Amino acid sequence: MALVRREHWGSRIGLILAVAGNAVGLGNFLRFPVKAAQNGGGAFMIPYFIAFILLGIPLMWAEWAIGRHGGKYGHGSAPGMFDVLWKSKLAKYVGALGIWVSLVILIYYCYIESWTLGYSVFSAVGLYFNETTFDSMKSFLLSYQGLTRGDHFTSILPAYFFLLVTLGLNFWVLGRGLTAGIEKLAKIAMPLLFLFAVVLVVRVFTLGTPDPAHPDWNVWNGLAFIWNPNFSKLKDASIWLAAAGQIFFTLSLGQGTIHAYASYLREKDDIALSGLATAATNEFAEVILGGSIAIPVAVAFFGLTATQEIATGGAFNLGFVSMPIIFTKIPGGPLFGTLWFLLLFFAGITSSVAMAQPVISFLRDEFGMSHKKATWTLAFGTFLCIQPVVFFLGRGFLDEMDFWAGTFGLAAFALIEILIFAWVFGIDKAWSEITKGAELKIPIVFKYIIKYVTPAYLLFIFIMWMIQEAVPTLAMTHVDPAKVPFIHGSRLLMTLILIVLLVLIGVAWKRNRSAKNG
Ligand code: ALA
Repeated sequence: MALVRREHWGSRIGLILAVAGNAVGLGNFLRFPVKAAQNGGGAFMIPYFIAFILLGIPLMWAEWAIGRHGGKYGHGSAPGMFDVLWKSKLAKYVGALGIWVSLVILIYYCYIESWTLGYSVFSAVGLYFNETTFDSMKSFLLSYQGLTRGDHFTSILPAYFFLLVTLGLNFWVLGRGLTAGIEKLAKIAMPLLFLFAVVLVVRVFTLGTPDPAHPDWNVWNGLAFIWNPNFSKLKDASIWLAAAGQIFFTLSLGQGTIHAYASYLREKDDIALSGLATAATNEFAEVILGGSIAIPVAVAFFGLTATQEIATGGAFNLGFVSMPIIFTKIPGGPLFGTLWFLLLFFAGITSSVAMAQPVISFLRDEFGMSHKKATWTLAFGTFLCIQPVVFFLGRGFLDEMDFWAGTFGLAAFALIEILIFAWVFGIDKAWSEITKGAELKIPIVFKYIIKYVTPAYLLFIFIMWMIQEAVPTLAMTHVDPAKVPFIHGSRLLMTLILIVLLVLIGVAWKRNRSAKNG
């Protein structure tokens, strides 16, 4: 197979910031605290760190290695990468999953990301500062999302406007290309994101006891709530699933995005140290920064019981309801509110541009499309597919996509890729790919972890998900009957996306084969 020259990252720091930007996302600041609080607080951290070491780090190295190897042959997306690793006609079709997962997540993630942009503006101009109770702030959010006709927003137009701006910004960055777009964005957004997060953490830690009538409502009890282990929870398989799911989501594993970014490395560029550095950066942002903002501050203002209820209500209540209420109560609220939502926006956009990259690379590498045309094609497709997400938000359309792509799909793709890499391609070749050009000596035990432990762990997770979640989800056991047609619609859309990808892969390979033969 011929080696192909392709575009490369401009600098090492740019690459690390871009991959860290890919990983650090809404998941770090919204999903992680909620998952930790829902799953036994400190006890959650035990399966979380085990999953980080046995799944997160090995998969991170494997994905960088698969990506760099595929890039050498001119492939920036999973179909071509798998085709290089596995001499089977099936390989490229199995690789479709590596585009499908990131594309489906991109479609709903951009909409949530657009709320953070909207709320940054609302914070700066003080739009929600009259809503001081949970109910009124929630109704502000629901009316913004077009789910109720409140006094706040009479139509979905403002949300739609911020969605268009968000999509516009994403595709503008993507259109500028790898170094002038994605890398530059990461160099600006990542330092700002960390700066905003540190300012917010300092603000949270200097809150003291905001309500003297409730001396136990303070940040320290909030931290204790996240960190105090409830070991009895460890017996419950769901906490192990939740921890592994969080590791996949937060590190952007099993999506095809790390592969796409790594395909722009040079053949001998280090991946051992860079992969570890990006994973560590993500964990710092998640555990230290993400764990120190939303939940501790909620406990300080609302107490433990109410925070528990908020966390059970999900990530949106925490980020878009309880945080804004707190901003109305603290001096400098508009400033801190703006910082919080801009932090989320920067975290979101550096991840969403990564989710777009596998499709763009696929269209460029396999169809020979120009970068501009590939970006526009994806922009158009995303715009079309996002419509039902916006208009059927309350009908479970987004949640269904989040489950099949954002939970189940990640694990399925991760399992397939590790089997192809460590077993079909072969662990010796896989290990030499990972360690080629390494600036860090990876302990040899990881060779065995990658071959045996990671696949076995993934298989276990995958089967448990099938039993505990996929079957009831598939059967819509707990679904409100009014949502059923919309959930079917969501599944139909996801299936159509997969079919289109499979057809495109077939066409691309046929074309390229005839071009080679002709
Ligand atoms: N890794 C990205 C996040 O945490 C997808 O949001």
